Formats: sequence, structure tokens, C-alpha cells
Amino acid sequence: MKCRKCDERAVIRIRAHNLALCREDFLDFVLDRVQKAIRTYRLLQKGERVLVALSGGKDSLAAFDILQRLGYQVEAFHIELGIDGFSEASLEKVKAFVRERGATLHLLRVEDELGMGVVEAARRLRRPPCSLCGMIKRYLMNRFAYERGFSAVVTGHNLDDEGATLLGNLLRWQTGYLSRQAPLLPSSHPRLIKKVKPLVLLSEREVLAYCLLRPISYLPDRCPYAKGATSIPQKEALNLLELHSPGTKLRFYQGFLQVRESIPQEEGELRECEVCGFLTVREKCQFCTLKERLNATEGRRR
Ligand code: AMP
Ligand code: FES
Ligand code: ZN
Repeated sequence: MKCRKCDERAVIRIRAHNLALCREDFLDFVLDRVQKAIRTYRLLQKGERVLVALSGGKDSLAAFDILQRLGYQVEAFHIELGIDGFSEASLEKVKAFVRERGATLHLLRVEDELGMGVVEAARRLRRPPCSLCGMIKRYLMNRFAYERGFSAVVTGHNLDDEGATLLGNLLRWQTGYLSRQAPLLPSSHPRLIKKVKPLVLLSEREVLAYCLLRPISYLPDRCPYAKGATSIPQKEALNLLELHSPGTKLRFYQGFLQVRESIPQEEGELRECEVCGFLTVREKCQFCTLKERLNATEGRRR
């Protein structure tokens, strides 16, 4: 099989785009897809200070690598969650990646924020760790970016992630979530930093191939509390449809973005948290409420 762009041997076939590409042309193709997402959805401007949230997994490391190659001003951010074994391995991957690129790495520890890691916090409140973890990560990413003057926070969500979330929201007709699902969540307040997902036009397989071919060394393990579990059936369903009709995932997601504008916004009015000042729909934000509840459990233990 020959590369569609040159005469080299093709290393990957991408049925959704009816393409077979050699290593060099595939790596360029991936950069072009990200550039296309940035332009189409007006994600970033050159010269902006961009904070890339790195988990140590393939997607976020690829997002950093690609944005840096495209000439964006990126710095890395990692949150040590406090998940035995997994957090240490994630940190090691992130550090090695950043060191190799001579980039700046910012670190935060959940333990420094809450007095304990995510798993211990969840145990005390009798909740699954992942249900707290997402909120904690979102809060800390936004707060850190705001305090250090970044204008955007980038995450590694890819087309499969976004497609699975979309399918899940549609199956439950969660129209409130639908109206908020987008590659760009703009900043509507100085304390709300815009959120950007530059990999939305790349499938999981394409991101994986990018990491293997570049190469980028990433942590293949999932969080042991398997937050992904809820989206796995949706991902499998979309993969099956994709197999029968290549390009389905892209058409599904891009079609949604076109009609999204007409979905009524169901967002409650945002106001400043009475404790920390970051935005929330309640009087006190979820992060400050969590801190308070944990302090109360601490009190009961004494
Ligand atoms: P997840 O919520 O685990 O699916 O991760 C979604 C995105 O959040 C990843 O692609 C990363 O950009 C970011 N992320 C996840 N975990 C961390 C972490 N521990 N520190 C910083 N960013 C993270
Ligand atoms: Fe954080 Fe599972 S506990 S992703
Ligand atoms: Zn707060």
C-alpha cells in the first residue's frame, strides 16, 4: 500500500478520509486536523498564553506536542490527584515529557488543597472517586489559569470522547448538557477561563497512531476507578457504526456542532462563590462545599 501523497510505503489507512499515508504525511495530516479545528471553531490565537492540562495519557501529551509544533505558546499543568500508584506513574510520565521538550511544568497537589487526595476524600464522603475528581480537576485548572494569567485551558478530549459524550447525552435527552458540549467554551467572565479541545477532529486511533509514530511515551493505564466505564458502551457503539460506514463519528459530531446553536441554553445564572469568588450557580461553589464537608468529617473523627 502506497502513501496517497508521495511514493513512500503507507503505514496507516484512514477509512474515514479514504486515505493511506506514510509516517511523515500522517504526522502532517494530524497537525492539519488540529489546525482545521482551531480555525473552524476559533479556538486559539497565536501569542495567547495557553495552559495544557496533562494527565500523562496519550491525548493530552499529543495535544501539547501538536500545539507546540504549530507555534502556540504552551505551558504544561498537572494535578497530582492522590490515587495510589496511578498518580506517581502519571507524574513521572508528565515530567519526562516536559523535560524532553524543555517546557515549563506547573504542578498542583490535591492533598495540598484538601488535606487529602481524591481517593481518601471520596472514601470519607462515601462517593465514587471519579465523581469528585472531575469537578476538582475542572476547578483547579480554571483557578490556576486565572491566577497565573493564562487565557486558555486545553484538554485532550478527542473525537471518540466527544462522540461518546454526545451519544450519552442524546440517549438521556440531557439538553442542558448538550447546549454546553463544544470544542470551545468561551470566557464569559474574567474568572472563567476559556476551555479548548483542539483534538476533536481526531479519532482515538489517530491520536494513538500519532503517539506511536512521533514517538511520544505516554501512560497507557486508565484511572483504576475507571471513570471511562460509563462511556465505554457508547464508544463501542460508535466504533461499530464507523466500521459499517466510515466517517460516521465525524458526521455525527460535526453535524451536532452545526445544529447546536439552535438548542436553547439551560444554564442557570452564574454568580461568584461567597467563599472563593469563582463562578457557580449556587451561593457556594462545589469545590468550597466539598472542602467544608471534608472539614466536618475531620471534626467528627476527633
Ligand atoms: P479525563 O477526565 O481523565 O478523561 O481527562 C480529560 C482531560 O483532562 C485530559 O485529556 C487532560 O487534558 C486533563 N486531565 C486529566 N487528568 C489530569 C491531571 N491529573 N492533571 C491535569 N490534567 C488532567
Ligand atoms: Fe480521577 Fe478516576 S478518580 S479519573
Ligand atoms: Zn468556591
